[in-house]
Order: sequence, then C-alpha cells, then structure tokens
Amino acid sequence: MKSRASAPGKVILFGEHFVVYGVKAILCAINKRITVTAEKKSDGKISIKSNIGNLTSHPNEPISKIKSPLRPFYYLANKIIQNHNTGIEVVVESDIPLGVGLGSSSACCVASAAAISRLFDETSKEDILKLAIEAEKTIFENTSGADCTVCTYGGIMEFDKENGFNIMKSKPNFHLVIANSNIEHSTKSVVASVKEFKDKNESRFTTLCDKESKLVKDVFELLKEDNIVEIGKKVKQNQEFLETIGISNDILREMIKTGQNKSFGAKITGAGGGGCIFALTDESNLDQTINEFKDKKIECFSVKIDFQGLDTF
Ligand code: PMV
Repeated sequence: MKSRASAPGKVILFGEHFVVYGVKAILCAINKRITVTAEKKSDGKISIKSNIGNLTSHPNEPISKIKSPLRPFYYLANKIIQNHNTGIEVVVESDIPLGVGLGSSSACCVASAAAISRLFDETSKEDILKLAIEAEKTIFENTSGADCTVCTYGGIMEFDKENGFNIMKSKPNFHLVIANSNIEHSTKSVVASVKEFKDKNESRFTTLCDKESKLVKDVFELLKEDNIVEIGKKVKQNQEFLETIGISNDILREMIKTGQNKSFGAKITGAGGGGCIFALTDESNLDQTINEFKDKKIECFSVKIDFQGLDTF
C-alpha cells in the first residue's frame, strides 16, 4: 500500500526580519507543491529518494549521525515506524525551487509527516503539523514553525512571536510573479547582519519596526477590501524598509525595478541577500509583468494563493 500527500510552498508577503523583533508578519501558501509518496518495505531499511539525492539507512540511528539534507525525512520515518516492524521508502517530488525562501523544506516536512503517518493511522492536521515542526527543527533549530503552519493549512496567515499564528479569512484573488535571483542565501547569516544593523542603529531600527507594524496593520484592512492598488503601495514601502536594513543588493534591486514596471509593487520575499522577489499583479497586468522579466532574461513564474494546504490522497 502506498500513501501520498502534498503540501504547498509559501512566500512571506510582509514583515520578514522585523518579525524576528516582534512585529507581525503576513505569509501565504502558494500553488507550487511538494508531493511525497511513502510505502512500507520488507527490507527493514529507511530509504529516501529525492531530486537532491538519496539516502538509505537502518532505523534507530542517532539523528546527529545523519549528515544529509534529507535528515528531516529520516527523522520522521524513523519516529513513525517505531513499533511497526517494517522498513519504509519515501519518494519526494518537488515543483518548488529549493533553498530560495519559498518554503520547500517546510512543505517537505509537512507532506512527508502526512504521507508516512497515514500508512499506519488516520492522523489529524494538528498532529501532522507538530511532527513536521519537530522534523524541521533537525535542520533549523530555531524555526518559529510559521512556515510549516501555513504549508499545512494554506491561505494567508498572520504571525507574531507573542501571539503565534492566525489563518486569515481573506481570500484575495491576486497573482504573484516570483522571480528567482538564483543566488542561494543563508537565512541565518542575513538575520545576523540585520542584528548588526540594529545594534548600531537602535533608535532608527525601533522607528522602522513601528512603521512596519503600522504598515502590516493597514494591509490587514486592505486585504479585507481586496484593494490591490493600495496593497501594492505597501509592498513598495516594505521594500524601502528592507533596503534600509541592508538585505538588498544590486541584482535584487534591478529585479525589483523590472518587477515594478507593470505590477502594483514588488519586493524581496524572505531573508534577502539572494533568493526571490515577488511582484503583485492581477489579471490586468500579469502577462505584462512576466514579459518584463522575460525581456531581461530573469527567471520567473506566477503563482496564486493556495487555499487548500496539506492534501492527502
Ligand atoms: O528566507 P526565509 O523564507 O526562510 O525567511 C526568513 C524570514 C526571516 O524573517 C528573515 C527570519 C525568520 O526567522 O523569521
């Protein structure tokens, strides 16, 4: 018997970096997915196949001994097959670009927690989310859990450190054109560089956090009204704040300029330094925005918000 599950990637719409210092962020799931297929095997081994490599190992290895980016899959398979006396094969297929802030690792954790656990039991979304966050912690110890949460439930989510997550009722119909700089970024080192900026510019940083909080609050209202033109202005303002804290660079700025020509606004999404930007569009300017990127030979693709979240089949 095989069990399959898929989970969407995500983008941070507003509030990256400032969220580390307590400001609310807004994330959304996107309609690019990871699909995981799990199957019991009689060889007693844990075997993982993915487009970034394969891993075969025996159960009950200490997790610190698994020196592979596939460690979260091993963690989940090993945990879930305890007491079931079986081997397991996990196959991962992805249409989310890896390592550029689009939630590929969270989507992997969510989809594999669901696919593997459902080989044995019906498992609730809440329990799958808990397992997924545990698995993600084997590679990002300090994960807030925000990415796994939005990948599990789909839609738009507000998040802050004090109050946690809240999936919003708004179902806006916009398209995002995501452009990939193809520069891999380390979230950890960009977060460290922002801390350095903050430590050197305490009062300026506090003012920026206040401005970002106000901006995010305004966006909640605009989302309810589906006011894409005004949301686009907030996207541009948010990008200015990200420029101020030093997470942009010439390549990203050029991409944002290109994205802003025809869209309502464009900004970095995620840690910055590399990774992706998005341009906010609707049907009226989607194709033109894509063409702007294509003319400059910038890799891009369009997504919509995914309201489904985790899917099992
Ligand atoms: O690059 P991503 O998508 O992993 O985003 C990082 C978001 C930050 O706000 C920069 C860091 C964090 O832990 O929230």
